[in-house]
Amino acid sequence: MLAAKLAPHFTHVTGIDADEGMVATASARLRDCPQVTIRRCSFVEFTPADCGGEADLITMVAVLHWLDLDDALARIPALLAPGGRLLVVGLARPGSLTDLAFDVASGVANPVMGMIKHPRAARLQDHSLGGQPAVPLKDPTATFAEIAAAATARLPGVRVRRRLFFRYTLRWEKPRRARSAFGAIAWPRLIYQVMYSLACHGRV
Ligand SMILES: C[S@@+](CC[C@H](N)C(=O)[O-])C[C@H]1O[C@@H](n2cnc3c(N)ncnc32)[C@H](O)[C@@H]1O
Repeated sequence: MLAAKLAPHFTHVTGIDADEGMVATASARLRDCPQVTIRRCSFVEFTPADCGGEADLITMVAVLHWLDLDDALARIPALLAPGGRLLVVGLARPGSLTDLAFDVASGVANPVMGMIKHPRAARLQDHSLGGQPAVPLKDPTATFAEIAAAATARLPGVRVRRRLFFRYTLRWEKPRRARSAFGAIAWPRLIYQVMYSLACHGRV
């Protein structure tokens, strides 16, 4: 659904996921969005050529903890165009008292937000394709401090913040360089890690 929301703002959106079921569901849901391409592909295999050039935006929602952290962060600068942004909503393993305090607050806030956003239980017929896909799950292994340290080393100037709802956010902008003749005609591009929902039900 994130791809559909972002599509009007970009020339093209490429969504990738390694899971066949997630790709099939996303492709079916977005078949009427001509600017969106969904591909089954691992992040480590993805190159700028796969989406026609460097991206203006890369997003990952509950995905970075699936990847080799250092390797994934190291790949980002080559995938982004100058001035392009990486926006991550991620999960971290609690590793400090501050992390635990955020988890306790999230444990209270999560069900409250769930009740506000979904006051009645979801039913299969609520979804045009007969329900949500089975989203692959994995617990995070890196702590917030480890993620922040790795990101700072790989992406100078990165901003990493703890958030409620068992999430952190990471934001980085690739420094701009003088525009070349080719850069001036580059098309906006977007890589997007398949997102169906920002789950309000704890860890995904
Ligand atoms: C927890 S889901 C998140 C899905 C979606 N972003 C959301 O918020 O609902 C994590 C997704 O990452 C995908 N994934 C795992 N390893 C991957 C990899 N190496 N390359 C691309 N996608 C991967 C999984 O198949 C899964 O669909």
